[in-house]
Amino acid sequence: IRRGFSSSIIKNGVIKNVTIIGGGQMGAGIAQVAASTGHTVTLVDTSEDILKKSRKGIEGSLKRVVKKKFADKPEAGEEFIQNVLQNVSISTDAGASVQAADLLLEAIVENLKVKQDLFALPPVSLNTSSLPITDIAGSTSRLDRFGGLHFFNPVPMMKLVEVVGTSTTSQETFDSLLNFSKALGKTPVSCKDTPGFIVNRLLVPYMMEALRLHERGHGSKEDIDIAMKLGAGYPMGPFELCDYVGLDTVKFIIDGWSAKDPHNPLFASSELLNKLVAEGKYGKKTGEGFYKYK
Ligand code: 3HC
Repeated sequence: IRRGFSSSIIKNGVIKNVTIIGGGQMGAGIAQVAASTGHTVTLVDTSEDILKKSRKGIEGSLKRVVKKKFADKPEAGEEFIQNVLQNVSISTDAGASVQAADLLLEAIVENLKVKQDLFALPPVSLNTSSLPITDIAGSTSRLDRFGGLHFFNPVPMMKLVEVVGTSTTSQETFDSLLNFSKALGKTPVSCKDTPGFIVNRLLVPYMMEALRLHERGHGSKEDIDIAMKLGAGYPMGPFELCDYVGLDTVKFIIDGWSAKDPHNPLFASSELLNKLVAEGKYGKKTGEGFYKYK
């Protein structure tokens, strides 16, 4: 299971070599964007099979990018893809991959223990969608060099990066993360280390509220999706977005918040969500969530 938030540790002020732990949708997306903007990337995961899938994902996404960017010059597009892929190496050895990195960026399962274990390794930066990064940082001795970068799916398309400083993140580290985000061609915003930062703190309760509205029988999921697309200008309706982000991810986030603040009605769980997750219907990635996919 992969998801959205990255935590990071910076070794050098100017970031050129990036090691990304986690080859899921988010990690691969970040790798693609970093490699496309001239960074050298090592993508790390636990098996060659996962990493092969990550590379395939990157290649597929690059083809979509190139189709637009090099519409009139398919050969230049093909060359661009090859150059980008050359910037990405893959590895199953996290320890070794970290040594040459200016930035270690983690984009793994939204589980505190797993994230903490990782940061017991030498220098690292983080991607997490919902966990306070200070909790994750607890296992690193380099608190001044530790901060959060939160990317959005699909990483190649979404222009935002949330840059998160903790009370111990140094100004230099924070500036490096800001500059790195800009070097990726993204627009950074500064966030405090609060649950969900800005986007997820607003977006996840909104998605949950859509589920609850549907559960009360006040609208079909199709109508709710159409309503929010055509009435509020969202590119996807809340059910489509849940399927896209992953129902497992949405559940992880809301359960985590609810555990910390059980009386907040915004964090109440949804039976429908719990049922679909229990059935392994995580959305687009498993072929079925609220909707079915080919
Ligand atoms: N890689 C490269 N290009 C892509 C892409 C990808 N993964 N996805 C879409 N594109 C580009 C392609 O050029 C594509 O054209 P193609 O289909 O001919 O290749 C073009 O976008 C249009 O795509 P679609 O026709 O599939 O559909 P849309 O026009 O709706 O665009 C979208 C797709 C950009 C995903 C848009 O629907 C959107 O912005 N959706 C909302 C996404 C969102 O809210 N993300 C945030 C989720 S929250 C999160 O990530 C935080 C986490 O912590 C939970």
